[in-house]
Amino acid sequence: MKANDLPFDAIPPAAKPKAGGFSTRAIHWGYNPADHNGALVPPLYTSSTFAFPDVAYGARCFAGTEPGYFYTRISNPTLALLEARLASLEQGAGAVVFGSGMGAITATMWSMLEQGDEVLADITLYGCTFAFLNHGLTRFGVTVRHVDMTDPEQVAQAMGPKTKVVYCETPANPNMRLVDIAAVAAIAHQGGAKLIVDNTYCTPYLQQPLLLGADVSVHSMTKYLGGHGDLTAGAAVFADAELAKQVRLVGLKDMTGAVMSAQDAQLVMRGLKTLSLRMDRHCQSAQTVAELLEAHPATAVVHFPGLPSFSQHELAKHQMRQFGGMIAFELKGGMEAGMRFMDALQLVTRAVSLGDAESLAQHPASMTHSTYTPEERAACGISEGLVRLSIGLEDIEDIVADITQALRCVAVAQPA
Ligand SMILES: Cc1ncc(COP(=O)(O)O)c(C=O)c1O
Repeated sequence: MKANDLPFDAIPPAAKPKAGGFSTRAIHWGYNPADHNGALVPPLYTSSTFAFPDVAYGARCFAGTEPGYFYTRISNPTLALLEARLASLEQGAGAVVFGSGMGAITATMWSMLEQGDEVLADITLYGCTFAFLNHGLTRFGVTVRHVDMTDPEQVAQAMGPKTKVVYCETPANPNMRLVDIAAVAAIAHQGGAKLIVDNTYCTPYLQQPLLLGADVSVHSMTKYLGGHGDLTAGAAVFADAELAKQVRLVGLKDMTGAVMSAQDAQLVMRGLKTLSLRMDRHCQSAQTVAELLEAHPATAVVHFPGLPSFSQHELAKHQMRQFGGMIAFELKGGMEAGMRFMDALQLVTRAVSLGDAESLAQHPASMTHSTYTPEERAACGISEGLVRLSIGLEDIEDIVADITQALRCVAVAQPA
């Protein structure tokens, strides 16, 4: 069997997709209840294997001449529906889902890189992505260099003959720095490289990297797409169907096997149904909290793209539909004050992750970004006192009351 002959992308969606706006497609795309006894919720295929009517059919599936499901790690109807829906929402040519966001990121990069290639990455990245690049990929002969991608000129200067992948998050976790996707995509393509954008903070509802020129948009679906903090999953959406096929073949089958469970795929599809509503509320509440923090005498700096004081506010208005639900800030008392603030919170929960219904607070330097050394964090603009908030869906009055009382505790504890 030649792996490249497998019919992975030859499976059509279950029904003629229903066209329409973002929310309509998030609810309906690729599924027709009439094909499934009228069931409004797509059936959950938990089977790991699929029966062949005869040996010849099975052989044709493996040879790639017959489109068919045969083993869930490679293809499964529940996963295929989610993939079709994600591709539609992000206006891509194809999507592949994975067991985690890191599964999506690693499988995509394993598929696109070879020994001797180079990755040019932004200086601020989620901690495990940073660790994968610098402590993982580099062990296999791939060079990784970091450059400040808030300045596209620096990306242009840093591109080299071996640069195959340009990688960024926008907004970046945790300090909210933005990358001009269109400008960096043009630079990457001019140098013969592909641009991967981690779109986890925005979701396809707030930002569409592929329409701005990126080649791949990766997601931790553990976050807003799942939306309820009860699953771990990832996805990569591709501008080019051939690249999607390559990542499924090489990344999912040959390199990682980081397959997503059908049960989790069904939960993500439930999450997608309310994505636009939830994101609207996350964004609205985060704007209120960011303004409150900025006006408070205890804060030194607030990083939120929706604040006119945010240095990349104009870029945010240009490439994001709204400004997201994530905030990073520092208190005047530095790290000690930040820790006191977090310990004083009563409604906002001290926990990593983001995009849940619950508001969450975490300290990147000791938690999500402890994979960096202190020197690396300093070089990447992740200060030791930074606090990260994921603003949830609780009543805004309650979120504001909790944050206000926690700020008061910090102020009281500070020497006069
Ligand atoms: C921006 C970003 N990308 C990727 C990931 C990894 O996702 P997962 O935890 O689903 O592997 C995370 C996790 O926090 C993240 O914040």
